[in-house]
Amino acid sequence: AHEPTTVTITGAGGQIGYALLFRIAAGDMLGPGRPVRLRLLEIPQGMKAAQGAALELQDCAFPLLHGVDVTDDARTAFDGTDIALLVGARPRGPGMERADLLAANAGIFGPQGAAINAGASDAVRVVVVGNPANTNALIAAASAPDVPADRFTALTRLDHNRAVGQLSERLGVRPDAIRGVAVWGNHSATQFPDVEHATVGGVPVERALADALGGQDVATRWLDDEFIPRVARRGAEIIEVRGSSSVASAANAAIEHVRDDVLGTGDDPTSAAVVSRGEYGVPEGLVCSFPVLSDGSGYRVVEGLALDERARRYVDASVAELVAERDAVRALGLV
Ligand code: NAI
Repeated sequence: AHEPTTVTITGAGGQIGYALLFRIAAGDMLGPGRPVRLRLLEIPQGMKAAQGAALELQDCAFPLLHGVDVTDDARTAFDGTDIALLVGARPRGPGMERADLLAANAGIFGPQGAAINAGASDAVRVVVVGNPANTNALIAAASAPDVPADRFTALTRLDHNRAVGQLSERLGVRPDAIRGVAVWGNHSATQFPDVEHATVGGVPVERALADALGGQDVATRWLDDEFIPRVARRGAEIIEVRGSSSVASAANAAIEHVRDDVLGTGDDPTSAAVVSRGEYGVPEGLVCSFPVLSDGSGYRVVEGLALDERARRYVDASVAELVAERDAVRALGLV
């Protein structure tokens, strides 16, 4: 039998927190054989909501749930933690400049990185969900010098899943027939959802699209003018239609991100933002989304894919934004 895994969720009293906790406790993240101990971190204003969720967790009587602690102290929350989902973040307020947003979030992710450095388990894995996720992960990793930087990742799995969902609808196939989609760059409007190496039922997606839409040019136009902007702007579309942001789909993506990181992807690549080691010319140290595989010991970038000129342009534009975010936090002395 497995020892319980300690899982820390920050912002646990918020919307995504509420969608995450019950699925993790039910075994959706680590599998049915793995008990979990949950640590919910909130700020004082969010404590009641987190405490209420903890009461409901008790009322589910989940057999895999070996305890829930609610705290507003980061050191307590990360003490001995094996897996940390950093969800709580400072949203952009009215009139807030980008530099203010980065600085406000550095005030959250810096101390949380330091608390992970001080007390987390030696094997800790961290995924940042709270936006701006890539740069928040950069800040947390920089604040945890004793933890290998590759333990810090940021969530772009929702973008990946959104891309698969769009292709599945357009091609009239089940989502699991589609493989090899890649999301590159920043979790932002500049991201590049890429189908160049993707297949559907073994056939290249680009060829399947050309067949379905009536030619290569039409297919490329659909990718550039509809698919990419729709995936990149899907969060805004959800807000327009639902009247509230993406919550259940974000929680689902976070669960899949951790599950594949820890249990392995098999030979089916997915997308995650990881610390660049210079792959594909992305400056070392940036937290950038790439196609990745995991054998259970953490995400590794899939190397050796050819990027044509069009793909290169998209990737470079998003990487330039990541560089600008990094430089802005550097100018503030934060990394
Ligand atoms: P929410 O506002 O409902 O919840 C956030 C919670 O975090 C609140 O309860 C707040 O009290 C708490 N919090 C704030 N500062 C904290 C701190 N220092 N320590 C602990 N808790 C803290 O927001 P929601 O909908 O749950 O979204 C959370 C974040 O996830 C947002 O930043 C959002 O932009 C991001 N997001 C990221 C996605 C991705 O794909 N990477 C997708 C969807 C959302």
